Amino acid sequence: MSTLTIDHVKKSFKATEVLKGVDLEVASGEFISLLGPSGCGKTTLLRCIAGLESVTSGRVLIGEQDVTNLPPEKRHLGMMFQSYALFPHMSVRENVRFGLRMEGKQSKKEQLEIATNALERVQMGHLADRMPTQLSGGQQQRVALARAIANTPSLLLLDEPLSNLDARLREDMQIELKELHRSLGVTTVFVTHDQEEALSLSDRIVLMNGGVVEQVGTPDEIYSTPRTAFAADFIGAANLLPAKKQGQTVVTETGAHALAVQSDAADGAGNVMVRQEDLLIAAETGAETPIAVEILTKVYRGADVVYVVDFAGKHIRVIAPGHAAQIPVGSAAIGVRAGAAQWIPESVNAA
Ligand SMILES: Nc1ncnc2c1ncn2[C@@H]1O[C@H](COP(=O)(O)OP(=O)(O)OP(=O)(O)O)[C@@H](O)[C@H]1O
Ligand SMILES: [Mg+2]
Repeated sequence: MSTLTIDHVKKSFKATEVLKGVDLEVASGEFISLLGPSGCGKTTLLRCIAGLESVTSGRVLIGEQDVTNLPPEKRHLGMMFQSYALFPHMSVRENVRFGLRMEGKQSKKEQLEIATNALERVQMGHLADRMPTQLSGGQQQRVALARAIANTPSLLLLDEPLSNLDARLREDMQIELKELHRSLGVTTVFVTHDQEEALSLSDRIVLMNGGVVEQVGTPDEIYSTPRTAFAADFIGAANLLPAKKQGQTVVTETGAHALAVQSDAADGAGNVMVRQEDLLIAAETGAETPIAVEILTKVYRGADVVYVVDFAGKHIRVIAPGHAAQIPVGSAAIGVRAGAAQWIPESVNAA
């Protein structure tokens, strides 16, 4: 397995700079997700790593080797893209063998054995002689995955491989992908714009925004300590309230409520972030729920209830367990769980 180093990679298409200097170190065996809104440059970065796109400046290293100017086939990669269709005129086994045949390193017998093994790894060994049209969408996806891992790549690149599967199948495939990653130990870069998928699969998440890396961290770090308002909002739909910080206290602009924060940032303007699950809600104000609010809407979801409340003119969301007594729409009170308010300064330099 290999490390991956992205050293200040920039990429422009004509006059448009799509990657504006991306730096990233991926450890050997790590599962990393590139996450960000549509158009932020995830696919472009993946294609630069693969060598399908040349970089405008900067370097790409796989292990110790500078591969910046090497063609894709010399980078020893496995790749799978959303639109990476199987060849319809070849059997499943021949599809998986295809890359090995192109490389021509093994005998035909060995290639067939390797292809069969790869198919068994994704539970498709029994369908090796079928044609792609005789498979379901999820099965085709598995074959594409087998093709990507057949030549034991040092780096696996996956661009939204699960995005055209329905929700249930997608969840199953996420679990299988995770298992496969664990058993192969292959360094993996996974592109998604689905935050839940990134949170559940990754060792670390690289959050991208407008061609730069906004924040890199473990799912827990990114979720619980977002560095920017963008990060807070993109991951987990945070409640953000404009506020002013003085010492370890912030005062919200609307409602003038004071909340305790722990932050080394300079005093001044910014946002206070509170996750929807870190708010307490009750029918009346009390010690734990001192802020009077109006419940505008509530949505019962089985395991929990989402309340949309009006907080001095701003709409915020509160999640309460489904088994708790439900509070009717109208007057209510909220409080912030101790230690849950996070200070996000107005401007921080992107990581
Ligand atoms: N070959 C190209 N020529 C010109 N512009 C391009 C080219 N490829 C991508 N772009 C532009 O670069 C930007 C980033 O595109 P990219 O495909 O990397 O985004 P993405 O983050 O993968 O988005 P999505 O989540 O929608 O797949 C977009 O504005 C896109 O229009
Ligand atoms: Mg893309």
